[in-house]
Formats: sequence, C-alpha cells, structure tokens
Amino acid sequence: MYSLPGGVGEDQTMSDVAFIGLGTMGRGMVRNLLRAGHTVTAWNRTRRPLPAELDKVAQADSIAAAVRGKPVVFVCVTGPDAQRAVYDEALLHCLGLDVLVIDSTTTDPAESVRIAQAVAERTSRYLDAPVFGSKSEAWDRCCAIWRRRCITSAPAAPARR
Ligand SMILES: NC(=O)c1ccc[n+]([C@@H]2O[C@H](COP(=O)([O-])OP(=O)(O)OC[C@H]3O[C@@H](n4cnc5c(N)ncnc54)[C@H](OP(=O)(O)O)[C@@H]3O)[C@@H](O)[C@H]2O)c1
Repeated sequence: MYSLPGGVGEDQTMSDVAFIGLGTMGRGMVRNLLRAGHTVTAWNRTRRPLPAELDKVAQADSIAAAVRGKPVVFVCVTGPDAQRAVYDEALLHCLGLDVLVIDSTTTDPAESVRIAQAVAERTSRYLDAPVFGSKSEAWDRCCAIWRRRCITSAPAAPARR
C-alpha cells in the first residue's frame, strides 16, 4: 500500500485505480496492482488483447472514461512526446479534484516539472516515479522507483481529502 504525506495512506485504500499505458512496463505494474487486490481500469492508445493474467482489467475507450471517479491514476508511456499527448490532449482536461497522479514514464525533468505544475493547478497531486528494472522486474513486482529524482506537486490550497 502506498503511503504519501497528505495522500493515499494505509487508512485510505486506493482500490479503484486508472492506468494509462499498457506497454511492457505498464502491463507488469498492472499485474501487480491486480494481485494486490486493486480494481484497474486502463487505457492504451492501441487496443490489443491482454495476457490472461490481466483479464480482470477493464479497458476504457478513452482517457476520460478510464480516469472518471478514480482517486489514483498511473501513467507509464514512452517518454515526453507520449506524455504531452496523454496530458495535454486528454488527462489534464478530465482530471477530477484531488486525484493522485503517479507517473512512471522516464522523461525529461523539465517536462515532469511542467506536468507537476499543471496537475497541481487542477487541484490534484503529482508524483514523478520513474522506475528502473525491466520487463521481468515489472512483472514480478521488483521494479524500484528512482527516489532521488522524484518530482512532486500538490495544490497550493489543501485539497478536500
Ligand atoms: N522496458 C524497460 O525495460 C524499461 C525499464 C525502465 C524504465 N522504462 C521506462 O518505462 C516507460 C515505459 O516503457 P515500456 O518499456 O513499457 O514502453 P513500451 O512497451 O514501448 O510502451 C509504451 C507505451 O506508451 C504508449 N504510447 C506511446 N506513445 C503514445 C502516445 N503518443 N499517446 C499515448 N500513448 C502512447 C504506448 O501505446 P501503444 O501501445 O499504443 O504504442 C505504450 O502503451 C518508458 O519511459 C521507459 O523508458 C522501461
């Protein structure tokens, strides 16, 4: 269970989450979210069949549909260009109040800062959480997050939760 200051802690389950980007790493992370008991609604740019272990994932037709009502949104896409497509064309327009966005894309720090600020302006919170490890580590719950590089943001005013 994640525990972040002022965020989703042990007393606040994040059972219903959205996941944007079902690539190599995203699929592994989703597998482990399912194994941990979370309900996952996912969106991937290209709809394709998922492995049997991910058959409980609900595949949404749009980012807006995937994130609607979810307190936590994970993003794991190729890099800054893909992030711009995800955030600027969709996610920033449909983000609800006080959502925690956890982004595991490896990206340009300046892009992370820009996104973090944009998310905070929409009264939500952002955690830049790039991972190291590879496909097998993601699949087997052994991915680690580059803590020293994490960029976070939160709204200036306290959010509701
Ligand atoms: N693979 C590794 O060993 C590894 C290790 C550490 C960190 N990482 C990092 O983790 C991140 C994900 O890597 P990955 O290996 O999972 O990559 P991947 O298998 O190539 O998957 C990339 C994902 O990004 C999506 N995407 C790309 N362009 C997009 C766009 N314009 N709009 C929306 N979605 C878009 C792809 O959707 P489509 O399916 O439609 O193409 C796919 O879901 C990267 O930042 C990578 O550097 C990877």
